[in-house]
Amino acid sequence: MSSLYDDSYYTAKKVDLDKRAIEILRENSWGDYTLPTKGLYPYQWNWDSMFVALGFSEIDLDRAWTEVESLFQGQWKNGMAAHIVFRKDSPTYFPGPKVWGGTHEVPTSGCSQPPVAATIVRDLYEKDPKLGKQRLTELFPRLMRWHRWFHTMRVISGGAAIAVTHPWESGRDNSPDWDDALAAVDPTGVTPYKRKDLGHVDAAMRPTDAEYDRYIKLVEYGRDCGWDHAHITREGPFAVADPGITFILMRADRDLQALAKYLDKESAVHEIDTWLYRSRIAADYLWNDEINAYAARNLRTGQHADGVSSVGFLSYYAGITKPKRDAKLQKTLSRILKAAPYSVPSFDPEHPKFDSRRYWRGPTWAIVNYLIARGLEEYGFEEKASRIRLDTRKVIQDSGFYEYFDPITGEGSGGNHFTWTAAIWLAWASPMTDGCQR
Ligand code: GLC
Repeated sequence: MSSLYDDSYYTAKKVDLDKRAIEILRENSWGDYTLPTKGLYPYQWNWDSMFVALGFSEIDLDRAWTEVESLFQGQWKNGMAAHIVFRKDSPTYFPGPKVWGGTHEVPTSGCSQPPVAATIVRDLYEKDPKLGKQRLTELFPRLMRWHRWFHTMRVISGGAAIAVTHPWESGRDNSPDWDDALAAVDPTGVTPYKRKDLGHVDAAMRPTDAEYDRYIKLVEYGRDCGWDHAHITREGPFAVADPGITFILMRADRDLQALAKYLDKESAVHEIDTWLYRSRIAADYLWNDEINAYAARNLRTGQHADGVSSVGFLSYYAGITKPKRDAKLQKTLSRILKAAPYSVPSFDPEHPKFDSRRYWRGPTWAIVNYLIARGLEEYGFEEKASRIRLDTRKVIQDSGFYEYFDPITGEGSGGNHFTWTAAIWLAWASPMTDGCQR
């Protein structure tokens, strides 16, 4: 019998999965943008779309660029690229554009999402610089404005770590990282509403009602202050320094700087230098010696999250290393990989708050795996990078293209036929990509 990590284990299903992944991308593609999945998420989501672009770049580079361009139709005048672009009304989703009350000409939500775009744009460009040059030239100023928005609007004076002012901005909605800050949000007076997500997915796999009340209350707060983002970050009811966004932005800054060099944009290169200069301060702020990991930190109280989230391992992807700290971080990662056969769990399986099926409180996500492994590989941790890639391959092989997976049993959870899982399969997890440099 072949073992899990033998190539032969996958051979039989390989072709079908590649084909199916392409079908999912095409089925969920609505013209120039792609839905995360039908029903549950019927619009364009920011970081989903960028992973989709990565997936499309394996089969149709032109379509990949189009996906990025369409996302930036949702960029606000202040530079923010919104987390959802509402293309057409859908009765299957709540909260829709009216609840958000944005004023941008294309209806959007009022917060942002992890900025993977510049990194993926660099990937697209480097695949075919000739095809990409003009498109990059047009996108570049938009990417600069978005990064500048993060570095000015989501940093509290003196700090360098990037804040999220709504759990949805982090892309990790119900992570335990937000628990204490969210508990301090008073949901009294929230306008009555009906959740629509529970019509698509089992409640045990989704955030609780108590969390949802606070999510909506935070949307109402932002709307009622006219989406004044500087004010929301400084004074609003919720601001947490997020290792996920902070590390993803650091990486994206480096990639944006490489793009600036390709385009001979000298002043942009210098401006990005000033952002990168502060990276170490941000990393120091996030490091939690009690759990030997980078962890979220409530900016209102200084309180660190007391458990390990998978995004804490994105420090390598960000380009941050510090030998003594890394030795501890590697030990933490080894422990977690040992505890979860289908790694990397979004939250520490040995922590009391771990919940193997509930969204960002335990399940494994293919997109995060891809980012973690990419960083580990770049810093020479090939064994762990390869383990994470093969776990991702195996879980998709065993369960299909689910939104996320139980890290202990491998069972697929949340939405099915999920676009970013298919995209990551095509770009990185499929045996077809063996031997490629990522
Ligand atoms: C959920 C996820 C978020 C994702 C969105 C669409 O809100 O937490 O990361 O972008 O769904 O897939």
